[in-house]
Amino acid sequence: MALIRRSPAFSYTGTALVTGASAGLGVAYAEALARKGMDLILVARTAAPMEELAARLRQETGVAVTVLPSDLTDRTARAELVTEINERGLLVDVLVNNAGFGTKGDFATLDPDRVVREIELNCVVLTDLARQFLPGMLERHRGAILNIASTAGFQPWPTMSVYGATKAYVRSLSQAMWSETRGTGVRVLSVCPGATDTEWMAKTGAPDMLPNRRAPRQVVESTFRALDRDQPEVVDGVVNWITGHVATLAPTRVKLPIARMYAKE
Ligand SMILES: NC(=O)c1ccc[n+]([C@@H]2O[C@H](COP(=O)([O-])OP(=O)(O)OC[C@H]3O[C@@H](n4cnc5c(N)ncnc54)[C@H](OP(=O)(O)O)[C@@H]3O)[C@@H](O)[C@H]2O)c1
Repeated sequence: MALIRRSPAFSYTGTALVTGASAGLGVAYAEALARKGMDLILVARTAAPMEELAARLRQETGVAVTVLPSDLTDRTARAELVTEINERGLLVDVLVNNAGFGTKGDFATLDPDRVVREIELNCVVLTDLARQFLPGMLERHRGAILNIASTAGFQPWPTMSVYGATKAYVRSLSQAMWSETRGTGVRVLSVCPGATDTEWMAKTGAPDMLPNRRAPRQVVESTFRALDRDQPEVVDGVVNWITGHVATLAPTRVKLPIARMYAKE
């Protein structure tokens, strides 16, 4: 008897909602899902890059792309977005919960409003959208939720404290959801990129941090491989996997100074 049951490859059909689709990893996910034949709903605050991406993907792949600009941290706007998607009769088969940002600096110096927005986007928005769209997936017995966490979620991260904590939340939530949805036809995946070459660093306020970066395309490839295997979590890149898991096992007094040094890179 096989101890590990092999999952069938994931079936990329229907519509994928990608948040944070105006830049970075969101663009890479949108491009890759369109190439797999999925229709798209693109969400971020800035419309122009999403309109450009939509026009290009319609032309290159023939998929339908709907652009719905929204500030997801605005709870009214977020509720309107969900209503709009439902009223247009769009069924979300794959949710890529990707929009997120971090803030560099010691906790006591952080802008309090920004801290609240960071937690709202990285945790509350991700949770709310998953809660809104999971029941439909369960009714249809198919679909996937890809929650973009981070290797920052493997250990506390001095000077990126709030960000690390939000990503630990995403890992925990996603893995529990993976367990709860076993056997339903719906897959949930915690995706943990390490340093990746996007605008993310510049937006944290530390553009030169973590210079050894992987490409967004590599993160997407790791994601699709893990989704096909129905893993609960994937860490992109072997080095990131090793450092993430060593950090998990290391005693707190050892891992905190190392994490602090890492943040200075
Ligand atoms: N790059 C890395 O090294 C790295 C590593 C691990 C994990 N991650 C995670 O990967 C995800 C994607 O990050 P990225 O690297 O692609 O960063 P990015 O290039 O800065 O893109 C972030 C995206 O989120 C959107 N966004 C920000 N605030 C928003 C809001 N209030 N409402 C709606 N959309 C909003 C941005 O669009 P607008 O500004 O137009 O709204 C943009 O499309 C994030 O969750 C990040 O934490 C990144």
